[in-house]
Amino acid sequence: MNIAIVGPGKLGRSLGKLWTQKGHEVFITGSRDAGKHEVVAKELGPRAHAATVKEAVSRSEVVALTTKWTAVPDALAQAGSLEGKVVLDCTNTMSPRKAADGSPEARSCAEVLASMAPGARVVKTLNQVFEQILAADSRLFDGQRPTMFHCGDDADAKAIAARLITDLDLEPVDAGPLENARYLEAYAVLVIRLGHTLGLGTNVAMRLMRR
Ligand SMILES: NC(=O)c1ccc[n+]([C@@H]2O[C@H](COP(=O)([O-])OP(=O)(O)OC[C@H]3O[C@@H](n4cnc5c(N)ncnc54)[C@H](OP(=O)(O)O)[C@@H]3O)[C@@H](O)[C@H]2O)c1
Repeated sequence: MNIAIVGPGKLGRSLGKLWTQKGHEVFITGSRDAGKHEVVAKELGPRAHAATVKEAVSRSEVVALTTKWTAVPDALAQAGSLEGKVVLDCTNTMSPRKAADGSPEARSCAEVLASMAPGARVVKTLNQVFEQILAADSRLFDGQRPTMFHCGDDADAKAIAARLITDLDLEPVDAGPLENARYLEAYAVLVIRLGHTLGLGTNVAMRLMRR
């Protein structure tokens, strides 16, 4: 599968490394310094290609948004049409979101993104695990995969997201419609606070238990 990685920072590079190892082609883009795309693509090997945002999106079925949330509007402006694309919204924000009139924004980043990208098949996911877990030699904890929830309104897009999550050695769990991104984003803030504020560190991950 061809995947545009928009935001070649810590998370984007770790995703690119793991997905190329699984045979996917990745298109690296979204830095404010276009020279970084080539550097990161070289680092990731022959299945990674530097591109402009527009080229990366047009050559890919899947677009992983791994920029800062505040950089998303600019990325969308450069992307052109996202009609039919599976857009994985991996972003988090620790700041309360505001609507255009300055009032508190009740919707999640993912819902706001969906309203800004007509026709895109938005899936919220990959925002709930520290990139250090993806960058580590293994994702497994005592042989068990961390859970990665994904939510969205398009069943086929969620199935594609689930396969890409599985390719990262994480366990995909369907968390329902895109509206539930509100809870996945709040949950991610909890994970971040556990790791960074409450002292657990970043070598931790969450798992859904079943019986
Ligand atoms: N780090 C984690 O553990 C983790 C886990 C899950 C989700 N996330 C989310 O994933 C996204 C990326 O996180 P990260 O840790 O990979 O951050 P990062 O290393 O700072 O990467 C951010 C990327 O966005 C690009 N970017 C483009 N425009 C930007 C702008 N105006 N301001 C800042 N960056 C801009 C940066 O490129 P240039 O600086 O070269 O322009 C860089 O490639 C964030 O939304 C974060 O909340 C992070």
